[in-house]
Amino acid sequence: MKRLVFLLVALPLCAAAQDAKKAIEKYQQMLSEGSPAELWELEGETLWKKPQGPKNASLEKCDLGLGAGKVEGAYARLPRWFKDTDKVQDLESRLLTCMTGLQGRSLKDATARLFGNADRPSEMEYLVAYIVGQSRGHKMAAPVGHAKERASYELGKKIFFYRAGAWDFSCASCHGEADKRIRMQDLPVLSEPAGAQKAYTSWPAYRVSNSQLKTMQWRINDCYRQMRFPEPEFASEATIALTHYLAVTAAGAPYRGPGTKR
Ligand code: HEC
Repeated sequence: MKRLVFLLVALPLCAAAQDAKKAIEKYQQMLSEGSPAELWELEGETLWKKPQGPKNASLEKCDLGLGAGKVEGAYARLPRWFKDTDKVQDLESRLLTCMTGLQGRSLKDATARLFGNADRPSEMEYLVAYIVGQSRGHKMAAPVGHAKERASYELGKKIFFYRAGAWDFSCASCHGEADKRIRMQDLPVLSEPAGAQKAYTSWPAYRVSNSQLKTMQWRINDCYRQMRFPEPEFASEATIALTHYLAVTAAGAPYRGPGTKR
């Protein structure tokens, strides 16, 4: 943690002395070398194994798509269609299925704290950190073989390019063309494999500005906020479809997360 504080203080000096863009790249590289994301992964593993809810069960038998209890590589193959729910689910919505089903918790209880802050972190964010960490090095391969998976991908693509809201923006307004940036942040082209691969494989991520590990659902919500849209419902069909579109576009790249962001 001490190292991080030093980096944040040192950045303005570097930026003044060198080309600002290079300084930011260096800053991001240094951040990723000592990321607190590891602490989230460890806490998430503890929660995964902790008996909870009316059934006093852990999540260790949760089926994330590769069979009950198989965590390694599972995130790299999400979102996907699940037979038991007959739905395409991303990691967050699947975790809710396991918390309510295996642990017998109410949806209200399972969704009580989806986004944490520095004072009170969230169970969802811890669990997500642990599970995605178990896919490091696995190639992204969200399936599109099932009809519902194809429909979800197509819906996500449509939403990505769908313009609406006060500013008539779509995701593509900021992430559809090369060399766009807001302030000093490069905006990746998420509709092309290269951009989607780089961005998607580094999320979920520890965000230094929030001192928290943030989920993909958070990332999408925050972009909707920037678009002046109402906040999407957690684990809704729309956010799962958007995630599916991004995951499929990122196919083939090894997962590198959880990442570290400014
Ligand atoms: C008003 C411009 C704007 C719009 C529109 C927008 N975003 Fe973003 N997006 C951003 C900014 C700014 C960032 C953060 C870049 C940073 O901090 O480095 C970002 C980051 C992201 C990232 C992470 C990229 C990375 O490399 O870490 C993803 C994924 C993403 N947006 C998805 C979406 C999706 C999906 C939509 C449509 C629902 C969307 N964005 C709409 C501005 C926008």
